[in-house]
Amino acid sequence: MLNTPRLTHNAHVDRASVSKAGIADPAFHPSLPDFAPTPLRSAPKAAQRLGVRSVLVKDESQRLGMPSFKILGASWAAYRTIMAHLGLAVGAEPTLEKLRETVAAKGSDLTLVAATDGNHGRAVARMAKLLGLAAIIIVPGGTVDSRIEAIRGEGAEVRVVTGGYDEAIAASAALSDDKHVVISDTSWEGYTDTPGWVIDGYSTMLKEVTDEIEAGHVAEPTVVVAQMGVGAFAAAVTRGFASRPARLLVGVEPVSADCIISSAEAGKILTITGAQDSIMAGLNCGTPSIIAWDDVLRGFDVFVTITDDDARDAIRLHHDDGVEAGESGAAGLAGLLAHVQGLGLGPQDDVLVFLTEGVTDPVAYRDIIGTNS
Ligand SMILES: Cc1ncc(COP(=O)(O)O)c(C=O)c1O
Repeated sequence: MLNTPRLTHNAHVDRASVSKAGIADPAFHPSLPDFAPTPLRSAPKAAQRLGVRSVLVKDESQRLGMPSFKILGASWAAYRTIMAHLGLAVGAEPTLEKLRETVAAKGSDLTLVAATDGNHGRAVARMAKLLGLAAIIIVPGGTVDSRIEAIRGEGAEVRVVTGGYDEAIAASAALSDDKHVVISDTSWEGYTDTPGWVIDGYSTMLKEVTDEIEAGHVAEPTVVVAQMGVGAFAAAVTRGFASRPARLLVGVEPVSADCIISSAEAGKILTITGAQDSIMAGLNCGTPSIIAWDDVLRGFDVFVTITDDDARDAIRLHHDDGVEAGESGAAGLAGLLAHVQGLGLGPQDDVLVFLTEGVTDPVAYRDIIGTNS
């Protein structure tokens, strides 16, 4: 880990080889309560600061009643995993209602289990609640109270482990049995189906963006940015954009949780040492997901790291443009702000960032934008 931000040109980039992989069945997400496509907002203040022609923000601060995009992956993965666990085939036009009926008839004693930095676990807890199932959600030590309370608010039992995200993952995997179904957004040897369905679930968000581009409602971006924890979200972004014209796909990590950039530099998956203690809690991961890895390694032209101050700066800039971003949510814009010159950003660029999370730590948010009394 290097404590200062860095930019690495990816020696392994090969965008043509990024998979065109699976998608969530188009019937499923619209069957969830409060489904609507999220907005694509223009961010003129951010464009001015970056010196680019335009910045578009895919605003995931409200998605299916949750403050992040993660419910898209958690819901589709819960559907596929529960059906597989019960030995049932996926039917035509899968919906929440059909899943509810199946669970009530055949799986009402199941408990959904997940490890999380916050957003994924809350989304799994919401799915359990919608299905009338119990949930156990495991979080790293030091997770802020507001995030724990939000998960409890979904009716889940929350367990706090000693250690970081990797320890939480190990604790969740250890619970797996006939009655405990693990819905993880990261993968490891022997556990790849469910996290693959998580990535497929994110395809709904990417399709919303590319549909808008194809309809001519927004410019085709020249630069697309994705923040990275274990890389599942980033893999979905490469699947959406690797074969499009963007001149640069940029992956962003905190300096203290640089497992993907370190792995890319080494050309193989590494687990980084040291505490992953960035305020960008969703990105505090020590090991890339093995099923996301190939697409992340082939799909990004450049990787950059950022400090917590860069994230704070981006939160304030999003606020100036009228959008409320959480720390991980602002990381995409932060990556550009910190590396304007290295990325060669200029007036020829139309930039797309994903605001992947709204405010999940309100006290910190008010501090950052300077409204705490
Ligand atoms: C808000 C937010 N953005 C981005 C990410 C990164 O996703 P991934 O872990 O799939 O790389 C996360 C992960 O938890 C997140 O919570």
